[in-house]
Amino acid sequence: MKQEIKPATGRLGVLVVGVGGAVATTMITGTLASRKGLAKPIGSISQLATMRMENNEEKLIKDVVPLTDLKDIVFGGWDIFPDNAYEAAMYAEVLKEKDLNGVKEELEAIKPMPAAFDHNWAKRLNGTHIKKAATRWEMVEQLRQDIRDFKAANKCDRIAVLWAASTEIYIPLSDEHKSLAALEKAMKDDNTTVISPSMCYAYAAIAEGAPFIMGAPNLCVDTPAMWEFSKKMNVPISGKDFKSGQTLMKTVLAPMFKTRMLGVSGWFSTNILGNRDGEVLDDPDNFKTKEVSKLSVIDTIFEPEKYPDLYGDVYHKVRINYYPPRKDNKEAWDNIDIFGWMGYPMEIKVNFLCRDSILAAPIALDLVLFSDLALRAGMCGIQTWLSFFCKSPMHDFEHQPEHDLFTQWRMVKQTLRNMIGEKEPDYLA
Ligand SMILES: NC(=O)c1ccc[n+]([C@@H]2O[C@H](COP(=O)([O-])OP(=O)(O)OC[C@H]3O[C@@H](n4cnc5c(N)ncnc54)[C@H](O)[C@@H]3O)[C@@H](O)[C@H]2O)c1
Repeated sequence: MKQEIKPATGRLGVLVVGVGGAVATTMITGTLASRKGLAKPIGSISQLATMRMENNEEKLIKDVVPLTDLKDIVFGGWDIFPDNAYEAAMYAEVLKEKDLNGVKEELEAIKPMPAAFDHNWAKRLNGTHIKKAATRWEMVEQLRQDIRDFKAANKCDRIAVLWAASTEIYIPLSDEHKSLAALEKAMKDDNTTVISPSMCYAYAAIAEGAPFIMGAPNLCVDTPAMWEFSKKMNVPISGKDFKSGQTLMKTVLAPMFKTRMLGVSGWFSTNILGNRDGEVLDDPDNFKTKEVSKLSVIDTIFEPEKYPDLYGDVYHKVRINYYPPRKDNKEAWDNIDIFGWMGYPMEIKVNFLCRDSILAAPIALDLVLFSDLALRAGMCGIQTWLSFFCKSPMHDFEHQPEHDLFTQWRMVKQTLRNMIGEKEPDYLA
């Protein structure tokens, strides 16, 4: 049955945490350039993908689903450095100056608000543009005020908040994250060891009725307390960790081995990366958060308990090495040891010379636009259908995450079809 979806009227304020970062500035520049006709939004599902309708016609998703138009987006955000988005993009060195210059004025007008930051959560960072807050609760209050002020000043109808800031240190789920009451108490008690800055942004967004998207692997909204809060406030949440390069490959290759019933004995993944993200991840506590996110993928696809002969003993290792000369141009190597008929071994080598932020930018934009759509469609809590974009898809304790890219893609289309009251086409017809 067709869902009631509020139209995408008025402006959508997109507030990016880490607005001066490589992913954020690349996403913003590409969006501004696309709407001026200076670039094509390559890699964006919301802008370029089609889906087959009940009558077998292929339609552009954005023509059949009421997504916010790129021209109605206003960007803002927070960062620990005061540089405007133009200066920050120059520093990130992802895009060429000539590409930035096409939207220079718009980028210069994006000036970050002071960040909610705690050095203990990202020890490699030393920012100066930071809020003073006596407690985590006060941090939340200040962020809520920022959201309200931005919304009013820019005459926005709706807001979406996207975390594209650095990865925080790894923390396990603790009692303070298990209910909304416990979370709020910990914020008021200023328990800074279990309440991260990202949790303050998420809480503030949800409290202000804005969808929250977690682009890093931080625990943040992936807790029962936040699931409870997002449902209470009728707000969609999604994450975690943009599925951009190496993991994208993994979630394509692993389903292929499984579909053909080929065995896997080992998967070694290593990366060199020289941007600020790589520098932050050089700290073992921050790397641990990323490692957990990257490692989770294979097991759920292979289901070793069902196929012990094929996947009962997979040695899986992930490494990220900070190597400054490469900047944002990450190089990833995968060595996969597989085996076939009668157990005979084979090897596959993948060498992906990618551009990290070029891959992540369209994912960030799509997550924002689809989260805003979900909000208008009255969908709240974890948006499982957005797992397609995430390395470590959020799920509650009753469900398993879905990692297979093709199953995830079907989930996207099925959700969109349900929204507009379309049935799945008959592919054999
Ligand atoms: N690029 C990719 O392919 C990719 C893929 C998956 C996930 N990610 C994640 O996305 C995030 C951004 O990546 P990036 O390459 O743009 O990194 P980056 O270091 O260039 O940008 C992060 C920005 O966040 C800011 N920041 C840090 N803590 C903050 C806080 N508490 N409040 C506000 N701003 C804060 C930093 O000053 C910086 O400008 C990282 O967590 C990264 O792990 C990136």
